[in-house]
Amino acid sequence: MNKKRVLVLTGGGDCPGLNAVIRAIVKRAENEDDWEVIGSIRSFDGILNEPSEIVVLNDTIVSGIHFRGGTILGTTTKGGPFAWPIKDNDGNWSEADRSDEMLRKLQYLGVEAVINIGGDGSQKISQLLYEKGLNVIGVPKTIDNDLSATDLTFGFQTAVQIATESVDKLVTTAASHSRVMIMEVMGREAGWIALHSAIAGGADVCIIPEIPYDPALVVKHIKKRYKQGGGFAIIVIAEGAKNVHGEGVKKNSVEIGNPNSRLGGVAYKLENELKQAELPFDIRVTVLGHLQRGGVPIAYDRVLASQFGIKAFEMVLNKEFGKMVAFRQPDVISVPFTEAISQYNYVKHDNYLINTARGLGISLGDE
Ligand code: F6P
Repeated sequence: MNKKRVLVLTGGGDCPGLNAVIRAIVKRAENEDDWEVIGSIRSFDGILNEPSEIVVLNDTIVSGIHFRGGTILGTTTKGGPFAWPIKDNDGNWSEADRSDEMLRKLQYLGVEAVINIGGDGSQKISQLLYEKGLNVIGVPKTIDNDLSATDLTFGFQTAVQIATESVDKLVTTAASHSRVMIMEVMGREAGWIALHSAIAGGADVCIIPEIPYDPALVVKHIKKRYKQGGGFAIIVIAEGAKNVHGEGVKKNSVEIGNPNSRLGGVAYKLENELKQAELPFDIRVTVLGHLQRGGVPIAYDRVLASQFGIKAFEMVLNKEFGKMVAFRQPDVISVPFTEAISQYNYVKHDNYLINTARGLGISLGDE
């Protein structure tokens, strides 16, 4: 019997829990006699590359991968079927739309449905492919938790755990030297990782992109903390933070085929601003960077990722195409791509986490 094929791929930055999603899809599909799962290596590249890089995914291959970080399928932040990078004869790079060719290849491979595990960029591609007739389902992933259609994305809690453990470590060295430690976390334009880890780690200051900071107010707060007897201070700052003049640190991508701007380094900018505002204490900076995306997913993310994988395959069975899996506590539901990609998940000023941080005496740099 010729089995129906579902193709799985992972796109965008990796995220702890991707393997748990892949495993759940495969395990659920193994309960159906007439389905088999295949995977494309490095997102859509595996389909478009010559020769194709497609692998069969079965129980043996996915056995024990639920606690492995990264993705067994590989991933990429570059290119994609609508903007495939091509090197011209003159050495310049341009982009080609290879989506029609890719759809033909999927047909040739006997693919009935595609499950695209990725962030907002990947789900925008999913929507365009769905409009072209592909049976596609999305699974959201990002450590940033910046997709508004889902209460949480897997990988986020793992990143928060890593950031919180890092604050814990910085506390002991900060206290020993009476220093101010600035720790920068990821999150793009959203302050979720910063806010959670600042509250969990007991930071003194937390700066998020949604609330512009005034360095003079940060200095005032730190001086007060030192006076109250702490003798040291921890500042958690999100990579997308901006001061009251709207200044942050963002660079255009220099990678061919990667449209994403690069964030990172705003902690050093803050260090200079605090020095200029005459903070009289020693300052050290730690930029956590990709450590937040590495290693094993914590149990919470393995569970959420497993739920997403099971739901995604069941959406294939129910032919719920053009939709993305979403977590709306306590349920796992499906939402149309159009809804899934329409709004960015900023931390709203009336979110109870903001109130909690202020209640704990954490300065958000604005008062
Ligand atoms: O979106 C996830 C994320 O880790 C962001 O927090 C960060 O800004 C970005 O990806 C880093 O991307 P890259 O791995 O391409 O440098």
